[in-house]
Amino acid sequence: MSAAAAAQAAPEVATAFRFDRLRKTFRSKDGGDVVALQDVDFRVRRGEFVTVVGPSGCGKSTLLRILAGLERASSGNVELGGREHTGPSRDVGVVFQAPVLLPWRNIIDNVLVPAQIQGRDAKTSRERALHYLNLVGLSGFETKYPNELSGGMQQRVGIARALVNDPMLLLMDEPFGALDAMTRETMNVELLKLRERTGATIMLVTHSIPEAVFLGDRVIVMSPRPGRVTQVIEVDLPSRTLDVINTERFGAYVSGIRANLNASGGLD
Ligand SMILES: Nc1ncnc2c1ncn2[C@@H]1O[C@H](COP(=O)(O)OP(=O)(O)O)[C@@H](O)[C@H]1O
Ligand SMILES: [Mg+2]
Repeated sequence: MSAAAAAQAAPEVATAFRFDRLRKTFRSKDGGDVVALQDVDFRVRRGEFVTVVGPSGCGKSTLLRILAGLERASSGNVELGGREHTGPSRDVGVVFQAPVLLPWRNIIDNVLVPAQIQGRDAKTSRERALHYLNLVGLSGFETKYPNELSGGMQQRVGIARALVNDPMLLLMDEPFGALDAMTRETMNVELLKLRERTGATIMLVTHSIPEAVFLGDRVIVMSPRPGRVTQVIEVDLPSRTLDVINTERFGAYVSGIRANLNASGGLD
């Protein structure tokens, strides 16, 4: 390719991460192979918010764990910030379905765990921990203990903890699945604000099609196992406030995705 052609082909916005013919096979207990992911290919731009929906067992968590460096792909490539990605990195923060806070540590010391694991400077880490606790609305709770906080508040501690190393990429695996519907809606709105303030790239896995549409700049739809990407939808909504959920346009996105999942036999 000539230099001019290469320049033309270069993406305008920097790539946050990219999967290239990603495949993951697990060895099952009876010795057979379980293909969890097959030929997953997509690229996410820096600052983009992508959501991933698909039936149980289609490989969503596996995809996220590979990106988090907690699991290795069987073949194919994962690129993070332009480099090949093979292990855990402080550029990536992860929020799991349950926040798993350490009960004997107070809130700020829980948020500091990843900074301490990475051996980062204590004073600046503390400042960042306070900053992110403030961003998730938990200023004043620094010295409380996990059992003094509601489920929604604990999940917000988990988010602050994932952000403490200023990651370029935030990965969230069904982070609000255990919360009641109202808390969940509030958390969705807060997450969008947080995203605006941090500029982080976010990939969020969810079981909820409306949640995927409400949060995502793009929704990645996966098929039942072996997980493949069956559809990628650009979501263009006039606003991202909760009232948009009742609009026809929002409903059309949701039913389109539902139809796609139905067609692949994946709705559960
Ligand atoms: N460590 C593992 N060993 C064997 N099989 C696994 C392992 N992790 C996941 N799997 C299998 O891979 C498939 C995808 O799992 P997962 O990524 O957790 O799906 P999802 O998050 O979409 O529900 C499932 O069939 C699951 O049983
Ligand atoms: Mg999962």
